[in-house]
Amino acid sequence: MRLTVERSKPLVGELHVPSDKSITHRAFMLSAIAQGASTVLDPLRGEDCLSTLSCLEAMGIHAEWRSKREVRIQPSAWVNPVDVLDCGNSGTTMRLLAGLIASRSLDVTLVGDASLSKRPMGRIATPLVQMGATVEGETPPLRIQGANLTGIRYTTPVASAQIKSAVLLAGLLAEGETWVIEPSLSRDHTERMLSQAGLELLRDPDQPLAVGVAGGSTVASQSWQVPGDISAAAFFLVAAALVPGSDILLRQVGVNPTRTGILDVFAEAGILIDRQPRSTQGEPIADLLVLPPPHIGPFHIRGELVPRLIDEIPVLAVLATQAHGVSEIRDAEELRVKESDRIACMAEGLRAMGARVETFPDGMAIEGPTPLLSAHLDAKGDHRLAMAFAIAGLIAEGQTHIDGAEAIATSFPDFAVKLAALARS
Ligand code: S3P
Repeated sequence: MRLTVERSKPLVGELHVPSDKSITHRAFMLSAIAQGASTVLDPLRGEDCLSTLSCLEAMGIHAEWRSKREVRIQPSAWVNPVDVLDCGNSGTTMRLLAGLIASRSLDVTLVGDASLSKRPMGRIATPLVQMGATVEGETPPLRIQGANLTGIRYTTPVASAQIKSAVLLAGLLAEGETWVIEPSLSRDHTERMLSQAGLELLRDPDQPLAVGVAGGSTVASQSWQVPGDISAAAFFLVAAALVPGSDILLRQVGVNPTRTGILDVFAEAGILIDRQPRSTQGEPIADLLVLPPPHIGPFHIRGELVPRLIDEIPVLAVLATQAHGVSEIRDAEELRVKESDRIACMAEGLRAMGARVETFPDGMAIEGPTPLLSAHLDAKGDHRLAMAFAIAGLIAEGQTHIDGAEAIATSFPDFAVKLAALARS
């Protein structure tokens, strides 16, 4: 599918962004292992989360949509699926489910689409095998034979919530304690949600980046309420900063501090955000309004900031093309193994639009400001690339054509409709 975007007039209006993808996956999975039936309110109905739900259903979990906004999940004994499980485009589905499968008496093969089939799975296989599971496949297909696991203390080389969550979820049924130590803090939804479901997490006062669970811990059934996804809001935050005269109020966005690196970048770039806190149920929520910046300054992303905005880097690269000076992104080699190689693909697309981009193995430097030109771009099966290019198209001369825009449905099915509505207001 091709998405065509034109230079935009001011974007004006209020918006509820789609519900948080990471939290929806976890709400489905924790409901599937809970002590009784749970409900998930406002889950993301994007393809990635629906892949998680259908994989769970194939293993015997009962899910019933009571309305478009509410699904009731009834756990039961997990059974071997009759076929391979298709995780679609979703790395979170495959890696987190791997943790749940490894600790059960199951033999499951997980497969994915062309993009997911290239992504590294050794990062979760290594700890799960150390715990006692049998895992085959450096890349999908991934065959997992579950077992009675033993807890481990695992130091992960990558700050990744998917690795951390896979190991902790496996640890719930392991013998003894299971710990994960990260190099820097990745998103902590799994920890927060396990706490909300009554689990006491293990902490190490000498190691703030360590977190653990005790084997045999149970997860209480819940009514999960999913907030808006800051990673989806990011496209409109950047659009509001770039399109002169814009005024967009984003309602009920999740502002968990492990996800708000983009707001720190905005502060460095001199873009002010009016942030109005809203009610909190385990996850902080706020309404966000970007105040039009007179001047966008360059910014620097590195170190501990990287996991706090890893999914926002494609659209922040678009912002960098309009900053006055050189912005730099480093320590972000993880971008090379996302839904696409986001360093190479963003650089290629932005250069085609006339931007000045230098790449490094772990990031890129972008010199701005540069007027962007119309171009014909390829999203390479990556939803965040497609949406980042669409935002670039709002300030480019003429028409920007983006091929492969169907990938947007994995996380933000009505992105184009919402963008068009703001441009019409
Ligand atoms: C996610 C974690 C991140 C992120 C992904 C969702 C999660 O991946 O990029 O979109 O829900 O745990 P990594 O854990 O691989 O960094």
